[in-house]
Parts: sequence; structure tokens; C-alpha cells
Amino acid sequence: MQNIDRRIKYILFDQKTLESKITELSDWVNSTYEKIDDDLIIVGLLKGSLPFLAQLIKTVKVDFLLDFMILSSYDGKEHSSGSVKVVLDLANDIKNKNVLIVEDIIDTGRTMQKVVNLLQSRNPKSLKVLTLLNKPSGRKVDFEPDNFGFIIKNEFVVGFGFDWKEKMRQLPYIGVLKDEEFKK
Ligand code: IMP
Ligand code: MG
Repeated sequence: MQNIDRRIKYILFDQKTLESKITELSDWVNSTYEKIDDDLIIVGLLKGSLPFLAQLIKTVKVDFLLDFMILSSYDGKEHSSGSVKVVLDLANDIKNKNVLIVEDIIDTGRTMQKVVNLLQSRNPKSLKVLTLLNKPSGRKVDFEPDNFGFIIKNEFVVGFGFDWKEKMRQLPYIGVLKDEEFKK
């Protein structure tokens, strides 16, 4: 039995469920990019995508360069502030390269819309988005990823990269926070 953090109401996706879904997603990466001649650049959006990305790349068979961006939209609070700022930009030039953005969750869609518009303006050969979680009920702008792991309803999740006020990212599972924790 897994030890459950006392602040967690229930577990949505345990470690095994996450691992097997992420293997499926890396199969998708392999089949999507197996025939490309040009470089693939995998872009992880820090910090939330880190555990997902670390697991994903273990079973990616095609060659790729790894790069990162940091965007801020949330300020560690429950609801998105609506504005998105680039805190750390890519180290690589993506012109004529195949770019795959790896994200933790798409909620309002504002972060991804901003990133996709910014990276498109640099003329990559292709640009796709893979997210672990998808919260379609939270959408405020019209944006859909190319692939995702799980759809979740409109609830706030923590663990496996997801934070509550920058903490709890290290939990090996994804869970829903107890209501009383939001009041603290
Ligand atoms: P969007 O711009 O509203 O789509 O927000 C995307 C970002 O909000 C994600 O990258 C997360 O950092 C954060 N976020 C959205 N929903 C949750 C959640 O349920 N738990 C933790 N962070 C979340
Ligand atoms: Mg994030």
C-alpha cells in the first residue's frame, strides 16, 4: 500500500497507472517522429512537466535535443490570473526544426496558446503539443493539444509535478487536495 499524504482527499492516478499511460505516450512520440530527417526538439515547460518529461524520455527511441521554457501564469494560486509571462526562453534556435512541447496540464488554454503563438513565429518545421492532463471544462480560449494522457474534471490536482503554492510536486501520484487545504 502506498502512503498517502494527509492533505490528499483521494488519489486520481497512482504511480503504476501514470507509468503505463506515459509508456503509451512515448509510443506515440516514437511513431509520430520515426520518419523525420530533421532534428526533433522536445521542449519541457518547467516546472510542472518535469516528472512527466523524465519518465517519458526513458522510452523515446528517436533522437532528440532537450530544451526548456519557464512561463508564469498561476502565481501558485488556484485560479489562473490570465496573463502569461516568459521567465526563461529556449536555448535552441527552432527554425526548420520539429518541436514537441511537453506540458503538465491544459486548463484555460492561455499558457499553451501563448507558447504556441510565440514558437510558431520562429518558423519551426512542425509544432505539436503533448500534455499529461487535459481539463476541457476549464477552457477560456480555443486550444486543443495533439495528444494527452488523461482527461480530468474541473478539480485541482497536486503531485507528480503539480503544485499547491509551489509545494507537493514530489508526490509519486496525482491526487486531489482536501477542501480545508485551500483555506490555509
Ligand atoms: P492554463 O494556462 O490555464 O491552461 O494553465 C496551465 C497551467 O496552470 C499549468 O501548466 C499548471 O501549472 C497550472 N494548473 C492548471 N490546473 C492545475 C491543477 O489542477 N493543479 C496544479 N496546477 C494547475
Ligand atoms: Mg505549468
